[in-house]
Formats: sequence, structure tokens, C-alpha cells
Amino acid sequence: MNDFQFPTWVNRLARCLLIGTPIVIGYGAIVLMAGIAPETTHIGYAPEQPVPFSHKLHAGQLKMDCRYCHNTVEETAHAAIPPTQTCINCHSPADGNGGVALTAVHAGSSKLSEIHKSWANDTPVRWKRVHDLPDFVKFNHSAHVTRGVSCVSCHGRIDQTDVVSQVKTLSMATCLECHRNPTPHLRPSETVTNMEWVPPKPASEIGEIVKDHWNIKANQNCSTCHY
Ligand code: HEC
Ligand code: HEC
Ligand code: HEC
Ligand code: HEC
Ligand code: HEC
Repeated sequence: MNDFQFPTWVNRLARCLLIGTPIVIGYGAIVLMAGIAPETTHIGYAPEQPVPFSHKLHAGQLKMDCRYCHNTVEETAHAAIPPTQTCINCHSPADGNGGVALTAVHAGSSKLSEIHKSWANDTPVRWKRVHDLPDFVKFNHSAHVTRGVSCVSCHGRIDQTDVVSQVKTLSMATCLECHRNPTPHLRPSETVTNMEWVPPKPASEIGEIVKDHWNIKANQNCSTCHY
């Protein structure tokens, strides 16, 4: 029986492992889950909106510029969600005489009933927020868009999607990856809302195209993005 005996510290080790392993595994699992949970990465997060608005139709097929609706994106930190008035420019309800106003595209459509209700009652449509960084992070659209970082870099091909979803993690690593070397992601600022733009030269030579306009080193100090 005793021709092979463990030293006594093994008992202690075994006890330690018995208690310690689940703690380590449990801790690892929590960290991992926090890392991949949709609350953190949000990839694919696509809440159902009160109106089935399609970017593929409006920005893609109809070729409306992003700034027609998100008209503060170049001037302010936040990209405004358009007020009902913007939709009414084209989707006014049928007029009171039973006729249809000139800009009443799909006036009778049930898909637009929330828009028409919002217009009639003067109450905003309750759009659900898709992208939402934690409150301890500072973000600024204007700083990016006016330096030639395109919407597509962070939001993907929105002009090809019916329902907006988050396509990039927008994690600290994603931000820093670009801040370390933004040049390959830059383009002439007048093309930032053109989702189809491709650099006229190989991507490695993009510096040549933007060189004259910018010599940008995006900040990596903690205080750039944190309060
Ligand atoms: C006709 C108006 C209109 C145009 C044009 C438009 N959008 Fe939007 N956009 C909206 C509305 C309304 C919402 C809110 C509902 C939704 O999320 O679908 C929205 C939502 C978004 C969101 C998600 C916002 C959030 O809650 O996080 C992004 C990102 C976005 N748009 C980017 C773009 C980009 C990029 C373009 C140009 C390619 C564009 N939009 C063109 C009306 C528009
Ligand atoms: C510049 C004009 C224009 C603006 C502004 C506009 N749309 Fe539209 N929208 C259209 C056109 C045109 C169509 C129909 C395209 C088709 O049927 O081929 C359409 C279709 C739609 C439809 C589908 C209706 C159906 O019954 O199929 C919805 C929903 C819609 N728009 C919502 C919105 C919302 C919400 C806004 C404001 C954020 C908005 N639109 C702003 C031009 C516009
Ligand atoms: C460098 C990355 C980046 C670029 C470039 C970018 N966005 Fe965003 N966008 C974000 C982030 C991050 C958020 C979430 C901001 C928050 O939670 O405060 C966001 C949120 C939004 C929202 C929701 C409203 C808001 O401001 O929170 C809209 C609409 C939007 N972006 C549209 C656009 C459009 C249109 C463009 C191009 C003209 C664009 N974005 C370019 C990263 C970007
Ligand atoms: C694709 C490239 C890219 C990505 C991704 C990106 N940034 Fe930036 N960011 C830039 C560039 C370029 C500038 C402009 C630097 C300058 O003006 O010198 C900038 C500037 C900023 C500024 C303004 C700093 C100032 O001094 O005014 C803030 C804040 C910022 N970024 C935060 C973020 C956050 C937070 C994220 C991630 C959610 C992010 N950025 C993702 C490229 C990027
Ligand atoms: C370019 C923007 C940017 C810079 C610079 C930056 N951060 Fe962050 N940081 C973020 C974003 C965005 C998040 C939120 C990530 C998320 O929600 O998953 C974040 C999250 C964090 C968190 C929370 C834990 C986590 O990973 O989610 C800590 C802690 C943190 N940052 C510390 C720092 C420190 C320390 C520095 C300086 C060495 C720094 N950050 C620089 C963008 C930045």
C-alpha cells in the first residue's frame, strides 16, 4: 500500500486546489463573460425601432447623404437623430381634403403611422439608442469626421442595412488601434459620408493623399477619452 507515498504538503496543495480552482475558474468565467457579453461589446445589438426605418432604402437606394438627417455630426460631439419634421419633408400625411400632398410618399402606409402620430401630437418618436458608450468615456463625432475619419470606419455599411445594428465593438482596444496609427483610416474630409469611397491608390499609400491636409497624431492619453 505504502510503497509510494506523497509528502504531506501534497495534502495541503490538494486542499488548496480544491478550494482555489473553482474560484480561479469562476473568476475567469466572469471576466470572459464581461468581455464578450453584448452589454460590453454590443456587436449585433439591433433593438426593434418604433418605425421600420431603413438606411438601405434611404441612404442606399435613394442616396440621401447621412448629414441630411444626422445634421450635427460635423459640428458637435453627438450625431443628432432627425426630428419628425425631417421625415415629414417627404412623408407628410394625406391632407385634410382627402387628397394627397405632393410630398406624401406612402401617406397611407401603416409603417409610417408612428411618424404621423408624432407629427399630429407634437411628440417625439421614441427611437431606441443602438450605440452607447459608458458614461466615463468621452466621444466626439466632429473631431473624427472633420479630420477625415468616415462613418464607415465605425458604423460599417449602414447604407446596406435595413435595421441598424452595432457592427464594431467600439471597445477601448478598437479606439486605440486607430489612435496609434490613424493615417490608413483617413480620407479627404468631403468623402466621409460616401460609403463607397475607396482610396485611389493602395491603402498603404493613403498618407500621400491626405498628407497635404493633415499631419494627425491621434491622442492616446487617458484624458483624451476619459474624464
Ligand atoms: C432619412 C434620414 C436618415 C439618413 C439619410 C441617414 N440616417 Fe442614420 N438614422 C436615422 C434614424 C431615424 C435613426 C434612428 C432609427 C434607427 O436606428 O434605425 C438613425 C440611426 C443611425 C445610427 C444608429 C444611432 C444609434 O442609436 O446608435 C447610425 C450609426 C446612423 N444612423 C448612421 C447613418 C449613416 C452613416 C448614414 C449615411 C450613410 C445615415 N445614418 C443616414 C435617419 C437617417
Ligand atoms: C427625401 C425624401 C425622404 C425623406 C426625408 C424620408 N423618406 Fe422615407 N421614404 C422615401 C421614399 C421615396 C420612400 C419609398 C421608396 C419606395 O417605396 O420605393 C420611403 C419609404 C419609407 C418607408 C417605407 C414605407 C412603406 O410603406 O413601405 C418608411 C417606414 C420610411 N420611409 C420612413 C422614414 C422616416 C422614419 C424618415 C425620417 C427619419 C424618412 N422616411 C425620411 C423618401 C423619404
Ligand atoms: C471614430 C468612430 C466613429 C465615427 C467615424 C462615426 N461614429 Fe457615430 N458613433 C460612434 C460612437 C462610439 C457612438 C456612440 C457615442 C456615445 O455613446 O456617446 C456613435 C453614435 C452615433 C449616433 C447616435 C447618436 C450619438 O451621437 O450618440 C449616430 C446617429 C451616429 N453615430 C452617426 C454617425 C455618422 C452619420 C457618422 C459619419 C458622418 C459617424 N457616426 C461617424 C462612433 C463613430
Ligand atoms: C478609425 C480611426 C479612429 C477610431 C476607430 C477612433 N478614433 Fe478617435 N480620433 C481619430 C482621429 C484621426 C482623431 C483626430 C486627432 C486630431 O485631431 O489630431 C481622433 C480624435 C478623438 C478625440 C478628440 C481628441 C481631441 O483632442 O479633441 C476623442 C475624444 C476621440 N478621438 C475618442 C475616440 C473614442 C472614444 C474612440 C472609440 C470609441 C475613438 N476615438 C475611435 C481616429 C479614430
Ligand atoms: C481613444 C480612446 C481611449 C483612450 C485614449 C483610453 N481609453 Fe480607456 N476606454 C475607452 C473606451 C471606449 C472604453 C469602454 C470600453 C467598453 O465599453 O468596453 C474604455 C474603458 C476603460 C476602462 C474600463 C475597463 C474596460 O476595459 O472596459 C478603464 C479602466 C480604462 N478605459 C482605462 C484607461 C486608461 C488608464 C487609459 C490611459 C492609459 C485609457 N483608458 C485610455 C477609450 C479610451
